[in-house]
Amino acid sequence: MTKNDFIEIKRIVSNAGEKLKMWSTENFHVNSKKSRTDLVTDVDYQIQEYLIEEINKSFPNSLFLAEESGLTKTPEKNEYWVIDPIDGTVNFSRGLPEHCISVAYVENKEPTIGIIYSPFMNLFYSATKNNGAYLNDKRLIPHWAKNFEDSMISLGNERGKTYKYFKALEEKVMRIRLFGTAALQIAYVASGFLDAFISIRSHPWDVAAGHLILKEAGGEIVDLDGKNVNIFQPDALYCNPNIIQDLINNVKNIQKFQ
Ligand code: IPD
Ligand code: CA
Ligand code: CA
Ligand code: CA
Repeated sequence: MTKNDFIEIKRIVSNAGEKLKMWSTENFHVNSKKSRTDLVTDVDYQIQEYLIEEINKSFPNSLFLAEESGLTKTPEKNEYWVIDPIDGTVNFSRGLPEHCISVAYVENKEPTIGIIYSPFMNLFYSATKNNGAYLNDKRLIPHWAKNFEDSMISLGNERGKTYKYFKALEEKVMRIRLFGTAALQIAYVASGFLDAFISIRSHPWDVAAGHLILKEAGGEIVDLDGKNVNIFQPDALYCNPNIIQDLINNVKNIQKFQ
């Protein structure tokens, strides 16, 4: 991927954000998938279709791993796009602005382009490998908490699991937050709004773009034992390096009792 390719994919995602704003004002259906808490709207499908069509126009013969419409199997080739058309669908379905489009380009399981765009909040995060991470074209230099006691930690939503992390951490850190969108919460860590996001049963499309954006901002991504992980790891700590050891010490036993 070249610098011009990066400009092109940013243009496509930016246009998809405009479509999302427009389609959100129309009457869209909300349906449940595997369970009544697992929602999808017409707009999720429309955004995914739009992104795939536009990406294919600019990058012919692309392969995709994407949440909706049967593209959830990892392609056999080593290079593909990973798309979450709306991360935070439940928020979107209720009109909450805390949702985003997440697009990554992955080579040999490693993201080399990452874009997270929250159109209603005008937050456009982007990164390419080894070139830093940006929020609305301003380079991210996060000012993270130095101590665990001062840290802001956010959690994924997973019934029967989230409360365990909440219980283990709430009296140890400054505050706990749950925003209902994995991708945006990772981007918030990259900007220094938060010190960590704990993913619980995440899918690659939830975290691929954030993975690169956070790494490029100087963050670390490890499993509950502190080992480095890739985008296919469902339970992981997306973290400010200053507090990573304290965070591991406080959550490492949770998994064993799950
Ligand atoms: C979900 C959100 C949520 C996280 C779930 C994800 P979706 O993605 O990111 O915050 O806790 O694990 O599945 O379904 O809104 O794209
Ligand atoms: Ca979903
Ligand atoms: Ca998602
Ligand atoms: Ca989604």
